[in-house]
Amino acid sequence: MLRAEGVSREFGSGDAVTRVLHDCGVEVFAGQTVAIVGKSGSGKSTFANCLSGLDKPTTGRITLLGHDLATLDEKRMARLRAEHIGFVLQKDNLVPTLNIEENVAAPLIMSGVKLSAALKRAREALDQVSLSHRARSWPGQVSGGEAQRAAVARACVNEPSIVFADEPTGALDEENGLVVQKLFRAMVKERGAASVIVTHDLDLAQGADVVVRMAKGTLVASGWFG
Ligand SMILES: Nc1ncnc2c1ncn2[C@@H]1O[C@H](COP(=O)(O)OP(=O)(O)OP(=O)(O)O)[C@@H](O)[C@H]1O
Ligand SMILES: [Mg+2]
Repeated sequence: MLRAEGVSREFGSGDAVTRVLHDCGVEVFAGQTVAIVGKSGSGKSTFANCLSGLDKPTTGRITLLGHDLATLDEKRMARLRAEHIGFVLQKDNLVPTLNIEENVAAPLIMSGVKLSAALKRAREALDQVSLSHRARSWPGQVSGGEAQRAAVARACVNEPSIVFADEPTGALDEENGLVVQKLFRAMVKERGAASVIVTHDLDLAQGADVVVRMAKGTLVASGWFG
């Protein structure tokens, strides 16, 4: 599903270069949940963004769903994203000018699903995170946790092959955190998808098959629980 080797990421240029990732690698197979843990600022989001193709590493090679990411142009990357990848970002998940159900339907519409069918599936996905009553609200009108659950619904709506979720339960109470955990787990175990989850949530990390720990931009340890 996903293989990364020798990934590094630098920001800035000249004397002001900061190296945020050093020689990171990971492999994720179908049916697996991989949790990325580590202190704030250790590089988890940067690594996850490189793995998912949202950001480009400075060096290294990433193969995602059979594609070498360095060889994909924007258009093909966008199509791969809409059709086969789910995302929950750490912040700014929703498009402010679309209502909640339109936000959730967006990956389907971008994959060519008709508007009415896409909205129907979006409402079903919202129902799974107990958010049907917010379908017509605007992102600016919902709470942080509701926005996060809408992002989870959107990440699952296109039945992706792989989901990348950066702190998907960070703004949620225990009960809603469990709902999200179950959704991801069902996707991985029942459909043979994979998920890569950045988290500080111990419950979520313990439910993973593999846990990798980052410190100062390096992968320092990994453990297998599955
Ligand atoms: N665009 C950028 N330009 C410069 N530095 C950056 C940039 N993005 C991230 N960094 C730096 O890289 C380091 C790692 O950031 P990252 O967001 O990956 O951490 P994280 O492990 O996800 O932290 P958190 O748990 O707080 O979300 C931080 O020191 C951050 O300041
Ligand atoms: Mg982060």
